[in-house]
Amino acid sequence: MKVDKIVFATGNKDKVKEIQMILADLGAEVVSMKEAGISVDIEENGTTYEENALIKARAVAAHTDAIVMADDSGLEIDYLNKEPGVMSARYMGEDTSYRIKNANLMGRLEGVEDEKRTARFVCAIAAVLPSGKEFCVRGTIEGRIGYEEKGENGFGYDPIFYVPEFGKTTAELSEEEKNQVSHRGKALEKMKEILKDYEDTDC
Ligand code: IMP
Repeated sequence: MKVDKIVFATGNKDKVKEIQMILADLGAEVVSMKEAGISVDIEENGTTYEENALIKARAVAAHTDAIVMADDSGLEIDYLNKEPGVMSARYMGEDTSYRIKNANLMGRLEGVEDEKRTARFVCAIAAVLPSGKEFCVRGTIEGRIGYEEKGENGFGYDPIFYVPEFGKTTAELSEEEKNQVSHRGKALEKMKEILKDYEDTDC
């Protein structure tokens, strides 16, 4: 289908920037819900990334005729039973700085050897089309939790997420490099393929 406009259900400016870059080749206008003039209080009370992404996309789709997409993402650390997981944004409180959150997570892994520091970023992307048709896809990137913060790019947990193939954290990757391998990049690529091949109808 031809996609003209996508409203992305997030208030996170860093994410909108990443998403606009990844979706650039669709030729669609990608705007945040704020830019679309939509303000809704959404309670992310799902227990999976997919549930939360769908909750956000549906809530915003109720206010627009455009295609709505939403993502829900997080960091899973195997040694910590996949914490912080779906709670990643709320871990230690939404307003706590990532310097503190990152230091706390590294502290919880003190003395844990390399092989047991495995982790992944997970991203679910949901789309709600004007007809009401819904899609949901997932992307992941595997890595390890580092021993110190490294890199200035990206956001959130990027400075402690080390990707062995690159020998760098995701905060040391350029935007283009990160988008090619990231959980969000992979999930959005899958969603682009689905939308390209789909014809939306109301009947
Ligand atoms: P949500 O998807 O808005 O619920 O937020 C997920 C949280 O997971 C973010 O606020 C970050 O803390 C973390 N996160 C998700 N994706 C990334 C990423 O690409 N880099 C660093 N942290 C991330």
